[in-house]
Amino acid sequence: MTRKPLIAGNWKLNKNIAETKELASALAQFNKDNNPTVDVMIVPTFTSLAAAQDCIKDSQIILGAQDFSQHDSGAYTGEVSTEMLKEIGVKAVLIGHSERREIFKEDDEIINAKLNQALKSNLLAVLCCGESLETREAGNTDTWICNQIEAALKNNEINSDSQLVVAYEPIWAIGTGKTCESNEANRVIKVIRKKLAELLNEDLASKIRILYGGSVKSTTIDAQMAESDIDGALVGGASLKADEFGKIITGAAAKAVA
Ligand code: PGA
Repeated sequence: MTRKPLIAGNWKLNKNIAETKELASALAQFNKDNNPTVDVMIVPTFTSLAAAQDCIKDSQIILGAQDFSQHDSGAYTGEVSTEMLKEIGVKAVLIGHSERREIFKEDDEIINAKLNQALKSNLLAVLCCGESLETREAGNTDTWICNQIEAALKNNEINSDSQLVVAYEPIWAIGTGKTCESNEANRVIKVIRKKLAELLNEDLASKIRILYGGSVKSTTIDAQMAESDIDGALVGGASLKADEFGKIITGAAAKAVA
């Protein structure tokens, strides 16, 4: 099975509009200059989305949003709807990032509703999962991850690999400089793929891209992409600099089929 690699940059709470224009323009140029055998996504903060879209509109870079409301409209102060995001060119959304789960207390029910809303809105959902160090040390990683996937997918209909990407991001590897060993990340990703086969079907599970995330850098990407089931990366810190992110994209291109 050949899955097109995807490199996604989660900018988190970084980059004002001027900085967004600088980075997004550099990435758009990079995307145009290089044969885009790798899908590239950037995920700026809300206020920078429109500026980013303006810079990448002639490239093949996919615009993603870091969050959104599970509701269509109404009395939900502070929320942004999927239709509002689509209006400014957003094509994908992150769901269930560990920072949303931990800091903003998003539970399985909210994540399930957000996946439902993303599917309903025809946005590509990048569903994140990952275990804490405590869970890993207790030997419960696989069960934990499978439960997160099962809870998110429950009653949500997925028929195509254009609807869902999964990102395996061990919490202890996010922003810590401590990457999960590539072979171990690949093992967990295989567990996720098996779970997807059980919840969806074998064929679809073999087509859905599963990324690794957690301190990915240009120096780690080659080993990660050499693994059978790692289809790309969700990158935080290293996505904030055009040259470093460009090197990660180039690294992923090695796995791409022309
Ligand atoms: P990091 O973040 O690359 O800075 O570890 C990854 C993420 O949170 O998606």
